[in-house]
Amino acid sequence: MISVIPMIPIGLTAPGNRAHAGRMPSAAPAPASPTAATAAIFARHGNPLEVLETATAELPAPGPGEALVSGILAPINPADLNTIEGSYPARPPLPGTPGVEGAGRVAAVGPGVTESTGIAPGTVVLLPHGYGTWREAGIVDAASLTPVPPDVPFHEAAMLKINPATAWRMLHDFVEPQPGAWVIQNAANSAVGRHVIAIARELGLRTVNLVRRAELAHELVAAGADAVLLDDDSARDAIAEATENAPILLALNAVGGESAMRLAGALAHGGTLVTYGAMSRQAIKVPAGQLIFKDLRYRGFWVSHWYREADPADRQAMFLRLFDLARMGLLRTPVERVYPVSQLREAVARAMEGGRNGKILLGSPEDARAR
Ligand SMILES: NC(=O)c1ccc[n+]([C@@H]2O[C@H](COP(=O)([O-])OP(=O)(O)OC[C@H]3O[C@@H](n4cnc5c(N)ncnc54)[C@H](OP(=O)(O)O)[C@@H]3O)[C@@H](O)[C@H]2O)c1
Repeated sequence: MISVIPMIPIGLTAPGNRAHAGRMPSAAPAPASPTAATAAIFARHGNPLEVLETATAELPAPGPGEALVSGILAPINPADLNTIEGSYPARPPLPGTPGVEGAGRVAAVGPGVTESTGIAPGTVVLLPHGYGTWREAGIVDAASLTPVPPDVPFHEAAMLKINPATAWRMLHDFVEPQPGAWVIQNAANSAVGRHVIAIARELGLRTVNLVRRAELAHELVAAGADAVLLDDDSARDAIAEATENAPILLALNAVGGESAMRLAGALAHGGTLVTYGAMSRQAIKVPAGQLIFKDLRYRGFWVSHWYREADPADRQAMFLRLFDLARMGLLRTPVERVYPVSQLREAVARAMEGGRNGKILLGSPEDARAR
């Protein structure tokens, strides 16, 4: 059976039905300040199921310039798992708490944090990049928080800084988006892939989407995909047929190996293959003919690098556009389940499995539902 509405068992509103639930004022009454919080911890690199622990520690009152953020909701992204394994270039000091992105609500602020900063008790905020978001609550430098406007669903705010931002940047930073142009990608049902589909459509681009599970086709077409094809040897002819041999100048690769070669093979002269993930863990081979006769460009993208280098004004401009898209309902990421931090092991085990119905998040299921 083909499921068009992804399963969201915690009661978050299903995509077509998200107009009311999931909204929250950005400065609702402040939640009660917790005095202790549980966090995920790892003291050495290795298999996440073996090295992750939870620990509960007291929370101090926020000091000058600080905020206490509670009710944190954070996704388990592949990069978080790679960071724990030690196979990711970002290596935070150990022991550490994983979690690159997430959102929460300000419970209290320290001296010197005035309302003019946009940060006040009750404000929903994006946590700073790489904060270590797999925790219930924490003390944060208030200046590093990004206030989230009203009407942005809480769980979408929690997942906005990595995957939507990656899709947005890759569609803008390599090939000028021209209405009507085709873009091709693999792992098209991933969170990034779905954002590529939605943002490309908003920009007037058309997408060819390769997946390894045929049953996803109807769901992705319903989400705005122009063509959904199996990522196997049948793809070459199917791509030509779907696009009527139109030139494709941008390919987005999250898989590597044979799949990346399929994308490169579909590119027109001068086209660009942007690699941003390596889900198959297979190397990319570059046939000499693609360089000599097609002058293909092989590029890479890493959103952490982008955040490090970006002008604060550019960062803010992108957030404003992404908040707009979220309000329009265009950044819907299917959520399979939210687990409390105390069920870390179950959550991580599920996140490490293929064939999920959506993202796994850490946080309070009730909190995520209520907002
Ligand atoms: N470079 C950057 O800045 C950046 C930023 C964000 C994400 N990423 C990368 O983008 C990729 C997707 O991230 P996400 O959070 O969107 O993922 P996600 O929602 O967790 O989805 C994972 C995707 O990978 C596919 N997959 C898993 N194992 C695979 C394999 N062995 N061969 C082929 N496909 C496989 C899954 O297919 P099934 O559903 O069929 O299992 C699914 O489409 C990851 O590699 C991540 O590290 C990179």
